[in-house]
Amino acid sequence: MGNFMADVDPKAGLDRVDGKLKVTGAAKFSAEYTPDKLTYGIVVASTIAKGKIVALETKKAEGAPGVIKVISHLNAPEVPGYNTGKEPAKEPTGDQPLRVFYDNKIYFNGQPIALVIADTLERAVYAASLVKARYTKEPFNTNLEKNLAKAAAPKQDRATYLRGEAFAYKNAPVSVEAQYVLAREVHNPMELHSIIAIWEGEDKVTVYEKTQGVKSTQQSIMDTFKLEEKNVQVISKFVGGGFGSALRTWPHSIAAVIGAKVVKRPLKLMLSRDQMFTMVGYRPYTWQKIGIGATSDGKLTGITHEAVGETSSYEEFTEGVVNMSKFMYACPNVNTSYKILPVDLSTPTWMRGPGEATGSWALESAIDELAYKLNMDPLELRLRNYAETDPERNLPFSSKYLKECYEAGADKIGWKKRNPAVGSMNDGAWKVGYGVSSGTFGAYRDKATVTAKLSDQGILTIECAVSDSGPGTATSMTELASKTMGLAPGKIEFQLGDSKMPEGPTQGGSATTSSLGSAVYEACGALKLKLLTLASKEGSAFAGLPPEGVSFSNGEMSLLSDSNKKISITDILKQNNLPQLELTITSEPGKSSQGFSMYSFSVHFVEVRVHPLTGVVRIHRAVAVSDAGKIVSPKAAHSQAIGGVVGGIGMALTEEAIIDDRYGRYVNNNFADYHVPVNADVPNIEAIFINKPDPYTNPMGSKGLGEIALIGFAAAVGNAVYHATGKRIRELPITPDKILG
Ligand code: MOS
Repeated sequence: MGNFMADVDPKAGLDRVDGKLKVTGAAKFSAEYTPDKLTYGIVVASTIAKGKIVALETKKAEGAPGVIKVISHLNAPEVPGYNTGKEPAKEPTGDQPLRVFYDNKIYFNGQPIALVIADTLERAVYAASLVKARYTKEPFNTNLEKNLAKAAAPKQDRATYLRGEAFAYKNAPVSVEAQYVLAREVHNPMELHSIIAIWEGEDKVTVYEKTQGVKSTQQSIMDTFKLEEKNVQVISKFVGGGFGSALRTWPHSIAAVIGAKVVKRPLKLMLSRDQMFTMVGYRPYTWQKIGIGATSDGKLTGITHEAVGETSSYEEFTEGVVNMSKFMYACPNVNTSYKILPVDLSTPTWMRGPGEATGSWALESAIDELAYKLNMDPLELRLRNYAETDPERNLPFSSKYLKECYEAGADKIGWKKRNPAVGSMNDGAWKVGYGVSSGTFGAYRDKATVTAKLSDQGILTIECAVSDSGPGTATSMTELASKTMGLAPGKIEFQLGDSKMPEGPTQGGSATTSSLGSAVYEACGALKLKLLTLASKEGSAFAGLPPEGVSFSNGEMSLLSDSNKKISITDILKQNNLPQLELTITSEPGKSSQGFSMYSFSVHFVEVRVHPLTGVVRIHRAVAVSDAGKIVSPKAAHSQAIGGVVGGIGMALTEEAIIDDRYGRYVNNNFADYHVPVNADVPNIEAIFINKPDPYTNPMGSKGLGEIALIGFAAAVGNAVYHATGKRIRELPITPDKILG
């Protein structure tokens, strides 16, 4: 087995270009701006799950020191974008379906019902505590599992699927059938959601917003307030994590924009940690059932994957829970169904890996169960049913190095050296177990536009209206431009986080490097061509050369055939009396990508320790192997890979947002009771990249990495726990009570 890490050494990669700013506190996050005459808004939330507000006591709050205004449905100004009928539509109305302060209806516990605005944060917090609502309550349901039978296929049903015969597993010589439950998870990035809204007059607004998409937030505000693009500016220079919660514009942000307009002063609004559980989405509680059948020598004959997920009562949220089951394995008979059940909670949203992470938990657990039933190595079962081409769409994969992932990871963790017998391995008082699972996610690419400016000082500035929720967008783009342009990283500045910049994609779906990177790559190519043209004056060594005839490095262009013939970029510009070159490039997927199924793949291996007396599960080692195409930025990629595992540890072992169904309210909406992994939970994580370019995804040959870093991980843990103990836990998170129960 070759060393795939050979040219993906994280230590050799570029450090975060904004790292120093972040660790020294110099980076300004959305809540850290202090415009003149700033006011502070605090959201008051409903305390019932369903019903109507019949009275709202705001007098005390209005009379409290420093209070400027209390806004609710009783006095909120008309919002032009809400004007689509008396009742909030059942259909999503674009990006802003819950119309904050629209009427007296309550759809979930924790719904924003009022905004208290004061001259200081403390005064706003105090006054908000004085607002009291009286309600008429209506019956409600926040429990998916007790109401599974009421679930229905979503209106846009892309998940009902049949290949061959349905439920074929039932007739197989060897089969498993099991149900898997995934707890509700909340994103809870370190940075709380926050926004500052500043109006200039009646029709122009600037916001500093925590968002994964400055352009999409701009569009939401334009739509909601019926404003022109040039009159809405969204700035998001630094984002302290998102994991999907900042993919859309939530009601509290619209509330802030309304509030700033009412008081005619800038307004800052930051959610509290408990509000992060109810106002910015969550990974929905999901029930799944998998049936898998095989011949006695382990050839799959049927897969059936059924899933039911939560949505809110006012909006349809769907995700790709059953997608992976359609194409992951070569299997003649596959049927899937996906239903949703409206519950009286806020709308869920994509959370890292989204539905694919949920689905892989079930599928990859069931594959493991089948392997043990067949008395076969779980890795061998996967290899025996390896899909060389996409069986769902009947297309070749643009690239697929999953086999290499299995091999590299097995090597690293020492898979072959384990004792495969269940419960056979020990380390002192602890049981030891090994688990494996695989994951996949679509390799997407969107349109992106960048402007690139190359100065006669040899400084390259590239800008695009994207944001960076953590993966290191500016770093990876700087690294890409540096390599493509032959310029030192220090000579490159990548600017982002402002909707006034050329249009870029929302950071989501593991597509940023592919989308934005393509535009950066092409812009550098166009600049190089311009430089060559400028240097190709008659008599020059470069005259008449095609682009392939020159190379760029150290800020110089040289002849490929004679590297002594060279000229610096700055000299080219100066000789042409050009202070700078500037160009704008829009890049989008071309025809070359058609006719292929494009996916990234990952494999997770874990070694766990399970304590038989306390039921504690510790992740002892984790090896994450990714086929994410060509790695563009080694250190940032490494961080993505290990970060995904950290998220996966939470999903597998600790994270569960628990609702008390009597009140429809969270009982653990804080970081003391909702456990995200901390350092002590996280072992040394080894990240391996296959690092082979995909010929079709984009010019760099990269594929997405952010989602596959997490997808599958939880199943590897469950499978390892089974290997250690013989106990199969089918309900996440795998907490000690379940081990001992
Ligand atoms: Mo990601 S769940 O697309 O932010």
